Amino acid sequence: MEYKLAPSILAADFAALGEDIKEIDTAGADYVHIDVMDGMFVPSLSFGMPVIQSVRRVTDTFFDVHLMIEEPERYIHEFAAAGADGITVHMEAVKDIDNAIGHIQKAGKKVGVAVSPKTPVSVISDEVLKQIDMVLVMTVRPGFGGQKYMNITTPKIKEIRQRIDELGVDVDVEVDGGINADTIDTVLSNGANVIVMGSSIFRGDIWENMAFYRKKLGEYA
Ligand code: DX5
Ligand code: ZN
Repeated sequence: MEYKLAPSILAADFAALGEDIKEIDTAGADYVHIDVMDGMFVPSLSFGMPVIQSVRRVTDTFFDVHLMIEEPERYIHEFAAAGADGITVHMEAVKDIDNAIGHIQKAGKKVGVAVSPKTPVSVISDEVLKQIDMVLVMTVRPGFGGQKYMNITTPKIKEIRQRIDELGVDVDVEVDGGINADTIDTVLSNGANVIVMGSSIFRGDIWENMAFYRKKLGEYA
């Protein structure tokens, strides 16, 4: 299993977004995690296609686009064209998950399926697991950076990792929200292998933070 570090640019300095992305890139980010919010599925708004298109020019690193929007099916094509490499949709937001997966695959992108903290991972069927590349277990309520890790999500990480192993499919388990020096061992030891981090990377010295968490992932690899 490959362990991946995915800094979330929601916590970056938007006045220097290109510079911040170059810095995480040089420091060894595996993915750039990009949070798109529509003010409907979640209370807040963030950014959309034009921003993704612009930052696409500064790096070739995998763009892990997390769509926190209602009926994401409507925009898959546009996010793919803007430069997404992987597109993650929420089970709670799609009209029809098979249709959403079909759109993402047709665009030639990696497919992620997300569940909010209160949604059980059982809503993701074995049939869906066999078609996708990643499950995103939200470890805070989607919508804002800087929240506290919700302990009720730990058993969900373990459960989905177990099901993936039993099925023998190659699916990553990503966690997102409240991951820091105190919580990272919990998610890693329960089966997560793609670690999203906003505040923990962009608050303070980006370079030092990246080095610290890279080393941490190295202990599990
Ligand atoms: C929350 C977003 C996260 C957020 C994580 O809705 O999906 O990606 O940026 O931020 P931290 O790591 O600060 O909890
Ligand atoms: Zn996210």
